[in-house]
Formats: sequence, C-alpha cells, structure tokens
Amino acid sequence: AGAGAAVALGASAAIRAGVDAAGGSAADGTGAAVSATAVGEAILPFHGVHQAGIETPPQSHAVFIALDLLPEVDAAALRRMLRVLSDDVARVTQGRAPLADTEPELAEVPARLTVTFGFGPGLVARAGAEAPSWLRPLPPFGIDRLDPRWNDGDLLLQIGADDAVTVSHAARMLLKDARSFATVRWTQRGFRRAAGSEPDGRTMRNLFGQLDGTVNPKPGTADFDELVWSAGEPAWMAGGTSMVLRRIAMDLDGWDRVDRPGREASVGRKLASGAPLTGKREHDEPDFEALGPVGFPVIPDFSHLRRSRSDVPGERIFRRGYNYDEAPAGASVSDAGLLFASFQADVDRQFVPIQRRLDELDLLNEWTTPVGSAVFAIPPGCAEGGYIGDTLV
Ligand code: HEM
Repeated sequence: AGAGAAVALGASAAIRAGVDAAGGSAADGTGAAVSATAVGEAILPFHGVHQAGIETPPQSHAVFIALDLLPEVDAAALRRMLRVLSDDVARVTQGRAPLADTEPELAEVPARLTVTFGFGPGLVARAGAEAPSWLRPLPPFGIDRLDPRWNDGDLLLQIGADDAVTVSHAARMLLKDARSFATVRWTQRGFRRAAGSEPDGRTMRNLFGQLDGTVNPKPGTADFDELVWSAGEPAWMAGGTSMVLRRIAMDLDGWDRVDRPGREASVGRKLASGAPLTGKREHDEPDFEALGPVGFPVIPDFSHLRRSRSDVPGERIFRRGYNYDEAPAGASVSDAGLLFASFQADVDRQFVPIQRRLDELDLLNEWTTPVGSAVFAIPPGCAEGGYIGDTLV
C-alpha cells in the first residue's frame, strides 16, 4: 500500500510537470512522509508568447505583491528595473539562483515556480505609453467595503509555486532587486490544497467548502484564447491580458449558521459534488427553467450561479483564485476569504458587467464582502534575451 501511495503522488506531480513518474519517488512502507521530489523538481518555462502563471494549473501557494514606483523612476529606470527582475525570474524559475542570491540553496526547489508581472496605470504613465482603456480602478459597487490598504498599485508580482519556501525566496530576491525603484504597497498570500494531495485537475474548494472554478474557460482552447488574450489594444498588450484582484472577506461564522439546503440554494450547486441543483455531476449543464414542487425555480434566481452567468457569450472571465486565512482580530475567530483573481482580455467588457449583476442581486453577498480591489495590465511574455515589458518601454 505504501508503494502504491508513492506512485499515486509521484504520478500526479509528474503529470503536472510533464516528467516521468517512474523514477521519482519511493516509500519505505513505514507510513512516514512519502518522498515525492517530483513536486519540487518540476520546472515551468519562463520565456514565451504569454507570461506563465495564467494558463498554468494553479500552484498550491501564491503571493500577490503590489509595489509603488519611487517618484524619481523614469522610463529609463523602469527599463532597468524590468530587465533586472526578468533576469531574476528567468533564473529562479528554472531552479538556478539569481545573481547575488544570498541563499542560493533555496533556489534548488523550483516546484513549478512562476512569476507574473502586472502593470498599474501609474507604471504605464511613467513609461509614457498609451494605457488600455480599462486600466483604472473598477467603478464603485454597493457591496464594496474597500480598505485602501488592499487597493491598486503600480507593479504587481504574482508569485506561485507548489512550495511555500520557494515562494518566499523568490519574493525576497525580487523585492531586494526592486528596492531602489519601488516600495511594497501590499502583500496578499493565498493557498490551495498541497500539490499531490488530490488528483490533478480537481476544482479547488474555497473555505466555504464549495467547489469553486467549475465553469471556467479551458486553457489551450480557442475559446480561452479569445476570452483571455489581448489582440493588441494598445499594440504593446498583444498576447497580454488583464488581472482583476478582489480581496473578498468570507463570513465563516455567519455561514456556520446556514443549513446545507440554504448553502446550496445560495450558489445553486450541491456542496458535495458541485453539481447544479438540477443535475447529478459537477459539469452537468444547469437547467434554469426547471421548477420545484411548489413552482419555484430549482436553481433560485438570486443564486450566485444564476446571477454570475451572462447570456452574452463574450461576457465571461477566467477565474484563478486562492484562499486566504489570516490571524483574526479582536473577538473574531477568523479572517478568511478569497483572493479572487480573474483574467480577461477586457475588464470593462467582461468583468464589470458580471460584477454589476452580482452587486444588484446575489444571495452569496450575505456572507461575502469585497475589501480590496486592484486592476493590472498583464503584458505579454518575452523571448530569450528580452524582458517582461519590453513591448512597453
Ligand atoms: C461561480 C463562489 C465571487 C464570478 C461560482 C461558484 C462558486 C462561486 C461556488 C460555482 C462553481 C463554479 O463554477 O466555480 C464564489 C465565492 C465568491 C465569488 C465564494 C466570493 C468570495 C465571485 C465574483 C465574481 C464571480 C466577485 C465576478 C465578478 C463567477 C462566475 C461563475 C462563478 C462567472 C461561473 C458562472 C457560470 O456557471 O457560468 N462562484 N464566487 N464570483 N462565479 Fe463566483
């Protein structure tokens, strides 16, 4: 049984990494931790048409860091900063220590490390370039209780890996090299289940226990390409996209007081399987016309599923969020929620209409509160010898 477990874990990690499972792992049959170096050794390419960390199956750990540029940073300095940071990322994602790494041993476990750069309106202005029309803070919504400490920023670094030490090391390296150009505005940490703890491809569970991410465009399909990648408005964005990051507090204590049928009605899906209330399996199509015994819709009109789904095919987004769980303050026993991250070619055309509908009506609003909000232009990837942002500045 021990060996079987090892193979299962090794295979799962190996499939993600695209490496051979057979050589990877061994178990000693004592019930001790299964060795699975395949998780740690997995490397994802840095160079490419698109940045990594978007189509990448989400890693277990992520940190989102926003920086503010120092007042004296001009286009030339911006170029220097982006070159240095890109060089760091090109190395550290491949399991090699960046230049001047004071803890080079920590680079030895890449664990599918990716770093995704995002540009706020302030950075694009410093470059003296044209910004995408949607690159500005979202319009205010009635449900928002935004705390300025989680909003906006000039430069975003989304750092993800299947190992928390790897994330920490990459973040420290990058922030040290960014120090003479920018200061940290905010840091938001998130997590999903550990790599290998579930078969690959499982939809994540959020801290309400819901399967979250069932209906999502599939990376590598024409549908995904059309919804997510910018066609080049403006030209420097071709192959890029946008990220909306919303920090959404989840009232776990309030949720505790809701019974299971109430919880399922609020989303329109079953908790155990994630199936729509009119179906059996997670990916069954919901039937919004189906009526219950007393004539009400089986999937309530106020449910998150009904309200977040648009009748306009282009009004869709790619969600790639993380859970967060911070130290509670005062008498509260939790400060948890969702780092809701979505990617879409055009924020105004795709994200805003969905958020407007949810703002008007969504039963889930009873237990969820947006407390932070930021929008970034995600530039395209770069070729070898180039740097992230080389189409901009
Ligand atoms: C679907 C949870 C916030 C957009 C879902 C589902 C759950 C869920 C459980 C059903 C399964 C799935 O398809 O993933 C949550 C929670 C939120 C939250 C707990 C806040 C803490 C948002 C926000 C947006 C959004 C802010 C966008 C503005 C969507 C969309 C779907 C969805 C587009 C898929 C709808 C479809 O089936 O076509 N969400 N969500 N969600 N959610 Fe959310």
